[in-house]
Amino acid sequence: MFEFPKKYITNLISTAIKEFSQGKVLDIDTNSISIEIDSKNNKAFGDYSSNIAFALSKVFQMPPMEVAGYLKALIESQTPILLERVDIAGGGFLNFYFTADYFSKALFALKKISAKDFKTAKKEKIIIEYSSPNASKPMHVGHLRNTILGDALANLYEVLGYDIIRWNHIGDWGTQFGSLICAYKKWGDKVKVEKNPIQELLELYVRIHKEYKENPDLEKESQAEFKKMENGDKENLKLLNWFLKESLKEFNRLYRLLGIKKFDKEIGESFYSPMIPKIIEEMKADKMTEQSEGALIVPLEAFNLPPAIIQKSDGATIYMTREIASLKYRLNKYNPSKILYVVGNEQSLHFQQFFAIARLMSIPAEKLEHVKYELIVGSDGKKLSTREGKIIPAQEIIDETISAAQKIVDEKRKDVSQEKRQEIAKNIAINSLKYSLLKDGRMTKIAFNLDTMLSFSGNSAPYLNYTYARFSKILKKAGKIKRADISLLENKDLELIKKILEFESVLENSKDDSSPHHICEYLFSLANQASSFYESSPILNDPDNGRKNARLMLIKELNKVFEIGFEILGIKTLEEI
Ligand code: ARG
Repeated sequence: MFEFPKKYITNLISTAIKEFSQGKVLDIDTNSISIEIDSKNNKAFGDYSSNIAFALSKVFQMPPMEVAGYLKALIESQTPILLERVDIAGGGFLNFYFTADYFSKALFALKKISAKDFKTAKKEKIIIEYSSPNASKPMHVGHLRNTILGDALANLYEVLGYDIIRWNHIGDWGTQFGSLICAYKKWGDKVKVEKNPIQELLELYVRIHKEYKENPDLEKESQAEFKKMENGDKENLKLLNWFLKESLKEFNRLYRLLGIKKFDKEIGESFYSPMIPKIIEEMKADKMTEQSEGALIVPLEAFNLPPAIIQKSDGATIYMTREIASLKYRLNKYNPSKILYVVGNEQSLHFQQFFAIARLMSIPAEKLEHVKYELIVGSDGKKLSTREGKIIPAQEIIDETISAAQKIVDEKRKDVSQEKRQEIAKNIAINSLKYSLLKDGRMTKIAFNLDTMLSFSGNSAPYLNYTYARFSKILKKAGKIKRADISLLENKDLELIKKILEFESVLENSKDDSSPHHICEYLFSLANQASSFYESSPILNDPDNGRKNARLMLIKELNKVFEIGFEILGIKTLEEI
């Protein structure tokens, strides 16, 4: 098996720490110490450097130099054959020097590398919930960020070898569906709904809300429709199911347009409704609940949180109740080791309360993670909305991006047919949109800006696509790569190999932070380094055949890394741009 450099060093260090802490001082949890390793471009500091001795010096109350001395000895005692030496420098930094031929040999080792090499051995099952729009309403711009982020995370976990369940938790329950059913019974038209479900249902919903103002009895009627449904009314449940089915058709059309992978489970909240009475009984029996002003609540003072309502005074259940039911269902049926909930930051309190309730049910805290993210904002930094203050539908953003890309492609690619130009524009637009929503950390607000996201230079999908296409062209021209002589490689080549080898630790970082932006940052800097390599090193016209072939091998690996990175980010590899 190929040894990635950072992983190799991390293993050496953690073994050393374990021995050090057992033999020397107190017993500490070595897993809680993070090991940061920097890649160095200046050979004077080794190929990689670690500041671990500084962190440990606090734990062990010992000067960093002394800790570094112990660690160096304990690392050397493991006879690390890939290393030439380990040095201590700068008051306690550990500098690692790989053997002279490690990086060039890595090129041969890499030759066989594929997404498989990044897989971890264990096959843990993980549920990743994302997208989760609301039936009968258009997906909005928040769902767009959510869907793209969730899909990329699921792709990442998949590449790392986890067993993934892609889960879509559709909102299709709540009093608003009482309104919708009431409106449909009054003014609905089956054919119209089938033709244009979301638009039609949204109009019905808006209309009844307007009429409430003049006709308060109508509101009571709607509430009664919902109540009926909660009590199992067949007709209303059938309507609700149909709304869900029609909405899903539309959501799936959008998912296909975005080119995200298929969900394994698409389950509406209504599905859990029949399970709820039993769950409430159990929660009561476990003394988790209290009556408060007619409502049933779960007090959460112990967690410093406001109480969570799980049943309203009229007996209706709410979002939280279905959340709990869904959790129980997921755990019982799939026994996942973890569930990630990709849901906006504005629902943080809900998730804190929900996870606190889960703790009361003895569900381990580390099983659940709220993968939150911030808003998409306009160029003024305010929440992106229409002039009337409404939330912008996802479709509108997509359409706008496609037409902006079309303008660019029409200008640049007069050499191809209009049909072809449309295809290229669509691919560029979707790639750019996705990349622009992934390149920043989750908790960064994203300013929607067509110019920067479609730019062919800078940190954008077109730039990455272009870089890839450029190298792909060289490989095509070169044909079969013959005998390579790696002994002729120069520093620039080795630096590029080193950069390629970092990919593995970038994937791990992204996974640990549940944020694919590390991958974007890495691919961008890889593209920059590769471009400057391309400009300064002859490839196809290198008079030395052995080195030419070695460089072709290098480029092939480079593009493979791009391919795996693109696959995770959900970006299409374009041979032509
Ligand atoms: N449907 C909700 C919305 O659009 C999001 C649901 C999030 N998932 C969850 N398990 N609570 O805001």
